[in-house]
Amino acid sequence: MKFFIDTADVKEIREAHDLGILDGVTTNPSLVAKTGRPFRETLEEICSIVKGPVSAEAVSLDTQGLVDEARELSKIAENIVVKIPLIKDGLKAVKILSEEGINTNVTLCFSANQALLAAKAGATYISPFVGRLDDIGHTGMDVIEDIRAIYDNYGFATEIIVASIRNPNHVRDAALMGADISTIPFNVFNLLVQHPLTDAGIKKFLADWEKVPKK
Ligand code: E4P
Repeated sequence: MKFFIDTADVKEIREAHDLGILDGVTTNPSLVAKTGRPFRETLEEICSIVKGPVSAEAVSLDTQGLVDEARELSKIAENIVVKIPLIKDGLKAVKILSEEGINTNVTLCFSANQALLAAKAGATYISPFVGRLDDIGHTGMDVIEDIRAIYDNYGFATEIIVASIRNPNHVRDAALMGADISTIPFNVFNLLVQHPLTDAGIKKFLADWEKVPKK
């Protein structure tokens, strides 16, 4: 499974990148707004750090507007992927963009049927938001399981990005279900590494090492 980081904060991106296991980045308007920095400058810097796919979101709500935005965004860098909302005009835009060779990440997906439509339109990636489904009392990961089965039934190449990840269980379940990618917030990245038994084990080994005769 590939690891993307879900942030527009370049400090977090550099730190995750330095771990050597980062495959890409996803951003959205809320994440860019949090940085307080200009949109294009931020995306340019992110693309200079990470060579894998970097998602930048288009904000138009009509097909022509989305296509125009996507063409502009794709000029930022070769690895830009354009995020398109899962609405009718978005699906039409994805079809046009896929024929032009512009990579798309269809976002704000909350059901298996929506994911099926995105794949048929030629989406490069689909982003089901599992945490937001959990927030309203659904089980977000059920949607991932359904999408995996549907894409496998028909051989769709669209890659599943598990998005809106809130905790390490989402990442483990994504891997068990065969999702292609998890896009992980920085705080959850840190939680994946940590285990109290690892810390306790290190402390004990170092204490015992002090007792070992060195000559
Ligand atoms: C995905 O690409 C989105 O940026 C993100 O995962 C949304 O997560 P949130 O529900 O925590 O805002």
